[in-house]
Amino acid sequence: MLSDKNEQEQTLTNRQGHPVTDNQSIRSVGNRGPTVLENYDFLEKITHFDRERIPERVVHARGAGAHGYFEAYGTVGEEPIAKYTRAKLFQEKGKQTPVFVRFSSVIHGGHSPETLRDPRGFAVKFYTEDGNWDLVGNNLKVFFIRDPLKFPDLVHAFKPDPVTNRQDGERIFDFISNTPEAMHMITFLFSPWGIPANYRQMQGSGVNTYKWVNEEGEAVLIKYHWEPKQEIKNLTAKEAEEMQATNFNHATEDLYESIERGEFPEWELCVQIMSDDAHPELDFDPLDPTKLWPTEQFPFLPVGRMVLNKNPQNYFAEVEQAAFGTGVLVDGLDFSDDKLLQGRTFSYSDTQRYRVGANYLQLPINAPLKHVATNQRDGQMTMHVDLAEGQNPHVNYEPSSLGGLDEAPKEAKDHTPHVEGNVVREKIERENNFKQAGERYHILEDWEREDLIANLVEQLSGCQLSIQSRMIELFKQCDEDYGKRVEMGLQNHRMPGVKEAEGHAANPY
Ligand code: HEM
Repeated sequence: MLSDKNEQEQTLTNRQGHPVTDNQSIRSVGNRGPTVLENYDFLEKITHFDRERIPERVVHARGAGAHGYFEAYGTVGEEPIAKYTRAKLFQEKGKQTPVFVRFSSVIHGGHSPETLRDPRGFAVKFYTEDGNWDLVGNNLKVFFIRDPLKFPDLVHAFKPDPVTNRQDGERIFDFISNTPEAMHMITFLFSPWGIPANYRQMQGSGVNTYKWVNEEGEAVLIKYHWEPKQEIKNLTAKEAEEMQATNFNHATEDLYESIERGEFPEWELCVQIMSDDAHPELDFDPLDPTKLWPTEQFPFLPVGRMVLNKNPQNYFAEVEQAAFGTGVLVDGLDFSDDKLLQGRTFSYSDTQRYRVGANYLQLPINAPLKHVATNQRDGQMTMHVDLAEGQNPHVNYEPSSLGGLDEAPKEAKDHTPHVEGNVVREKIERENNFKQAGERYHILEDWEREDLIANLVEQLSGCQLSIQSRMIELFKQCDEDYGKRVEMGLQNHRMPGVKEAEGHAANPY
């Protein structure tokens, strides 16, 4: 609706709908000022500008996103998928579900270089007919820690020093040398696998163990893996430096431009399946996120593919405000007892209520593409009332006989795991912190191993000798050769003047 004959579709207005006749000069007493402060257009414009930023994600602040679809195969490997899960999005061959994906680096801020050594986030929101499912993963298939109580310490050690505001290898290895469960992740991270070449040419992994539940309420343990149809490509430290010298947005650029060119990146979703028990025959705990499930025993079984074919129209509205969480599951998918996963599940929606606001799920990027009807009301930025069609608007409670909302009928049997035990603060029994890290060291190609050792020596050389010694011992426990090569490298590299308790690392990234 245009207010008068002079107003066109393109006419600039303020948010009250008032046409703006002068967007060049503030209102002032004479053209040399002083200004007067009753100028609504100016106040609205500048105060909105003052509020343009919302809090950054506390981790994974730098990201890029794209829209696309997931297409189900209807099978898991050779078997009908219904044998294991009743989740509707997987059942029919060829069924498509819209998705939004956000890739990210972890530690640094919103405009930090995309060449930094860091895990990469790989978060997928599936807008299914049963509501949203978020699969919030990383490119690497394991994690640093297995207890969520340690997450803030892990992140503090990797974030810039609270005094100097510089990332500091000594703080990182101080923490890691006292955290032996991190050795597997560190072996990946300091190899070229810690710097994916871009977002299209990397894997994704759910990392944590989840469950699938079938019609009978029976569950199996599941790990999720995204395998890129584009080849996997990682960078050595030198290649990353060369890239960063000319472009610190290369991964965002690569994703955006390839979609604009019509070269749509594609991944296959595979799962590994294990029966739902503690598996005492294994030398690791299936719920331990610092471990891989050996593929010879638990093969990758394809279940569908994902194609990203549309760039966001607005970065802030879609990518920045997107909110993913591990608690966001649909019927047929479930949590496991993995303690890290349970800690994450509290953390995500908690931070999003602070970062985006209490009504973050009403934003278009986060809202499901299906019927939503709740009795949740009010709060900052309420955009609409979650009323069902025909619902009595006076009834915002349940139960009611006056035309309120009703509970949904149950479609299948609940999964009802039996849990029993003393409430304790204890580590898991099968820690086995080093074996898989040693195996990884051997699986790496020669050039990857060279880069791993060089990167570790480079970073550790500036640390106190006590930290260096603890790290060498841990590497030796993974594999004697691994430890010896780091030790030798440090001896050759040892800088004059680095004394016990005095060393200080340069910024490692
Ligand atoms: C106890 C362990 C963890 C905690 C407490 C935690 C917490 C968080 C928090 C608070 C955010 C910011 C969310 C937001 O502002 O929207 C976040 C983002 C993220 N986390 Fe974690 N995290 C944990 C472990 C992990 C692990 C193991 C993975 C990988 C499997 C992971 C992957 C991600 C990703 C991909 C994002 C970015 C999501 C996006 O693009 O918006 N996190 N995490």
